Amino acid sequence: MAPVIQSEVPVPNTLGIPARSSWGVKVTSIEELKFCVKWARDHQVDLLPVGSGSNLVPQDVVEQFVVQIGMPQIEVIAERSNSVLVRADAGVNWHAFVCQMTQNGWYGIENLALIPGLVGATPIQNVGAYGVEVAERIVAVHVLDKAGDEHLLQRDECEFEYRASVFQHRRDWIVTAVEFELLTQPNANLSYPALQTHLASNKDKYKTATPLDVLAAVCEIRKAKLPDPDEVPNAGSFFKNPIVSPVQAEALMGADGSLSQYPEPDGKSYKFSAAQLLDRVGARSEALREFVPGVACWDEHALVLVNPGRCSHGAVMAFAAELQRRVQDQFNVELTLEPRVV
Ligand code: EPU
Repeated sequence: MAPVIQSEVPVPNTLGIPARSSWGVKVTSIEELKFCVKWARDHQVDLLPVGSGSNLVPQDVVEQFVVQIGMPQIEVIAERSNSVLVRADAGVNWHAFVCQMTQNGWYGIENLALIPGLVGATPIQNVGAYGVEVAERIVAVHVLDKAGDEHLLQRDECEFEYRASVFQHRRDWIVTAVEFELLTQPNANLSYPALQTHLASNKDKYKTATPLDVLAAVCEIRKAKLPDPDEVPNAGSFFKNPIVSPVQAEALMGADGSLSQYPEPDGKSYKFSAAQLLDRVGARSEALREFVPGVACWDEHALVLVNPGRCSHGAVMAFAAELQRRVQDQFNVELTLEPRVV
């Protein structure tokens, strides 16, 4: 059955922007998605695939044909001696998937609990948190191109980097499913300092730090620090943590010796905390609250822009530009947006 395409529909986005698109539909099968790809071609409109809109900053009026990806299946495709290969459709809720896999005794993604959004979005920005990036457990990504042909990309073809992948440059590809290799032996990653501290300060509860403990601890840390988009509109981290050259790192440390710097694995650059830089320029100050009424940085984490006023795209972007300008002026660092602007 062909899906029913509607006109003038709201564009899903957890940031609370009252955006509308000319055309929209939700698909629950690859056949329906193929129908939409053909419809877009026939009507000469651009197709914009979206998940739950948790990493999206839409314009108030989106000209594209917005297709919500809702394919729901999860399937075990191989069992190996120390791992299982699981294929999850792009429309599966990410947090539910993480919980289900960890409860099954299939490990490696427990640190990524409570990240909003759907499975299909995770490879696109290579989501990461608490010491783990999703790319570590991805073996392949299924895509449909806008000519209607399916492709399977192996992990080494995905060009994964910090919050980046080939899928950000290939907007003609729609992620339809992701294959994960999950480990059947627990191998908890406790490298992230905030996670260690949380486990240590709740020793009675977390005696051995099993993957299920890590999952629970990550949920607790996130709930304490990050706003629930169902309660306060937000899109998670609004900026990427800047990665700079050694020369720039030295200048930054010269400007403010209390900044934290983290050497990158390539040995040639340093990551700085965007939240720290934002705090230094008064991102959470009362003064900045007046700048765009209804838009602010979250009280518990400067990196998360919140939109309780459900303000327009323009208002959100004006507030973000002011933050960028202040960081640029004080530190000569360009903060780049983490969510996708459409
Ligand atoms: N910090 C501040 N000010 C704040 C909050 C934190 O100075 O308002 C400092 C902390 O003291 C700490 C550092 O910033 O030194 C790191 O804080 P956090 O652990 O939250 O990490 P982050 O680098 O700010 C990244 C991800 C988050 C992810 C956390 C945990 C990016 C852009 N963000 O934030 O991801 O949950 O690490 O691993 O990489 C998201 O992408 O939407 C997201 C929430």
